[in-house]
Amino acid sequence: MNAVPPNSASLIAALAGVLSDGGLLTEAEDMARYSRDWSGDHFGRPLAVARPSSVEDMSALMRHCHAERIPVVPQGGLTGLVGAAVAADGNEVVVSLERMNRIRSISPIDFAMVVEAGCILEDAKRAAEESDCILPITFGAQGSCRIGGNVATNAGGFNVLRYGMTRDLVLGLEVVLADGRIWNGLKVLRKDNRGYDLKQVFIGSEGTLGIVTAAALKLFPRPTQIETALVGLRSVEDAMALYARARRGCSDLLTAFELILRGGIEITMREGKDFHEPLGKPYPAYVLIEVSSGGLIDLKDMLLSFLAGVEDLVEDGIVASTRAQGERLWLYREIMVERQGRGGRYLRTDVSVPISKLADFVTDALFELGRARPDALPVTYGHVGDGNIHLNVVPPEGMAAEAIEHLFEEAEAEIFAVVDRYGGSISAEHGIGRVKQRAFLDRIDPVTLDLAAGIKDAIDPRHILSNGRILASASALDYR
Ligand code: LAC
Ligand code: ZN
Repeated sequence: MNAVPPNSASLIAALAGVLSDGGLLTEAEDMARYSRDWSGDHFGRPLAVARPSSVEDMSALMRHCHAERIPVVPQGGLTGLVGAAVAADGNEVVVSLERMNRIRSISPIDFAMVVEAGCILEDAKRAAEESDCILPITFGAQGSCRIGGNVATNAGGFNVLRYGMTRDLVLGLEVVLADGRIWNGLKVLRKDNRGYDLKQVFIGSEGTLGIVTAAALKLFPRPTQIETALVGLRSVEDAMALYARARRGCSDLLTAFELILRGGIEITMREGKDFHEPLGKPYPAYVLIEVSSGGLIDLKDMLLSFLAGVEDLVEDGIVASTRAQGERLWLYREIMVERQGRGGRYLRTDVSVPISKLADFVTDALFELGRARPDALPVTYGHVGDGNIHLNVVPPEGMAAEAIEHLFEEAEAEIFAVVDRYGGSISAEHGIGRVKQRAFLDRIDPVTLDLAAGIKDAIDPRHILSNGRILASASALDYR
């Protein structure tokens, strides 16, 4: 049965009584920052914003919402960008995790930390470093996103090729269920084969199955050496050939292998200031390479020897001589991401194909896009060591809003058709949310849908949690 939109005045009065320490916001100006995501593209007015500060309060809140069939949407740092964490306009209570932001424990011996879901990723990373460890979830939004969101979206980023997705880094979870029960799966065991691995159901569920309140995460030794290079290449094909050799030639110590096509570098160069032509002349493709290690090897020597052996592929390159210089090279990527839309809307994709097919995929997708919409400006970059590419589309300057929507629909259809041809995924990183839902459900096979709907019904039988994300809104049962 579905949740029904409740009467807001009595709802708010009742909710205010549930939270023990005044964590409820109901005024429009107080709720503004919970209403819009980081991109500004997704907006939804919450019925109210509940901010529990303990797992007990979260449990009481959900018990009440379950009894009253009040729809809720858990919210972290709002950087997921697929419309999963903003409210369905005027219809849902936002449950913000921001006040549950403690680091509960760090154990360098276990190489593990236990962190509450509202902790900002960068704060968790800093705490790990203070214990001479790293938490290797790394991407541009790490100063805003929160651990619960990382878990709920199975966040990816720059270091996946070495350390895996968030899913690979979770040892245990504490989850408040739709009916308010607390599932305590918070453990730091490396090996545990007792029955179903239930935490995996919640990881990547985008808030639709439970509210992650804390996570036990794997840590790794903090590298004592990090080397960064930016190289220029003739083509994406050469970049992928370089990747194949780099995995082996760098003793599997690669921590990032980020492709940026020329257009992306030019976006950063338009910043002026210190961002001039990074190499001697322009190249069609660039790769940011990072290797890291501890111990006794000479990492710079290894990287330089490797690069000396791939001169048939690498046209030119620079190896940062200091950490600061390495961080400056990364700015070419960061600034591109921030500026690519020129302050306006642009189409974001985060697709993946088998690594062996990535170069052909990029060639074909750019060809089809150029054929269908020669007016669109593609911006292409990504985590190609994982077969994951962001092929984004910027509209021509001055285009009307309606025409932009049409352009995005056409461009996305062209790109996804090529993804399908290569047996790829239309969402490799950011999830389905509401933005990718149509494309997701168009492609889902009936058995997968049946299993997914069954899991939703079993864990959130009243469909009060993030209804309409991933599966369609009315009822998962309707899809059977
Ligand atoms: C990135 C994010 C947007 O790769 O996924 O920068
Ligand atoms: Zn990405």
